[in-house]
Amino acid sequence: MSEEELYTVYKGVFVPNVLHPSDSLQYAEEFLVREGDIFVVTYPKSGTTWMQEILTLIMSGGDFTPVLTLPNWDRVPWLEEHRTKELQMNERPSPRTLSTHLHYHMMPKSFYNSKAKVIYVLRNPKDVYTSSYYYYQMATYLVDPGTPDEFLMKFLDGKVMFGSWFDHVKGWLSAKEQVLYISYEEMIADLKGSVSKVCTFLDKPLSEEVMEKIADHCTFKNMKQNKMSNYSLVPKEFMDQTKSNFLRKGISGDWKNLVTVAQAELFDSVYKEKMKGIEYKFYWDEN
Ligand code: A3P
Repeated sequence: MSEEELYTVYKGVFVPNVLHPSDSLQYAEEFLVREGDIFVVTYPKSGTTWMQEILTLIMSGGDFTPVLTLPNWDRVPWLEEHRTKELQMNERPSPRTLSTHLHYHMMPKSFYNSKAKVIYVLRNPKDVYTSSYYYYQMATYLVDPGTPDEFLMKFLDGKVMFGSWFDHVKGWLSAKEQVLYISYEEMIADLKGSVSKVCTFLDKPLSEEVMEKIADHCTFKNMKQNKMSNYSLVPKEFMDQTKSNFLRKGISGDWKNLVTVAQAELFDSVYKEKMKGIEYKFYWDEN
């Protein structure tokens, strides 16, 4: 099916109809953000599920009960998703944990200057493109990616769900709120150090031993076994994991197995142009 059939254009970006019917988008717009709310914010396929797991475990002080008994979409619900409306978020005690793929300018009015905290997970866009390519093949609510060449043009043009990676990142880099920027690649390089960084940002000190336990549970191998986080609870007609697993490879640099030299050159030239003037030092540019 085509973009016209599967997506709605919401504030200038494509959002999949199945997950974001208009009443869910309205719910997100009217959502009352509270002081103390913690948001995991990402462009899709940047490590949302991973950070949701880490955040839940930090907030529980290392108690595994929530990550082993509640699906990630109930623990750290997506602000803009249809399921969230049913969760009585108003009744949840602070600090509440939420996720969103919304661009900075799309956040509810109550978010700005709210004293909410944001953990923004960034990932090398070539790996985001690669992860998305396989995800779009298995998620039936998304438009089939076609060939890598075809999908690359759509990705670079922002004609994919939640629009342009470049705009998403640039928007969130300009946020005035309290934001921790952390990259997927640094989480791969030093998971326990990343857990510690999040603890510090949230003023949630934990012992070395508990941080070690959290990091161990959150390795790719272990998280892949957790049915509350590996999307095996989602029916095959929405996500066909026989085509590609949600927790697919969990590495950095897998783009080298998909992207050709010519495609990488095109990617780099668009990246250079779109990110001109951005002073933030991206992990993948520096390491
Ligand atoms: P790959 O497709 O490259 O494997 P999101 O949750 O934002 O949709 O991102 C999904 C990506 O994060 C997938 O990337 C998935 O495998 C990866 N991921 C999820 N949990 C992970 C973990 N514990 N360690 C490393 N990567 C993880």
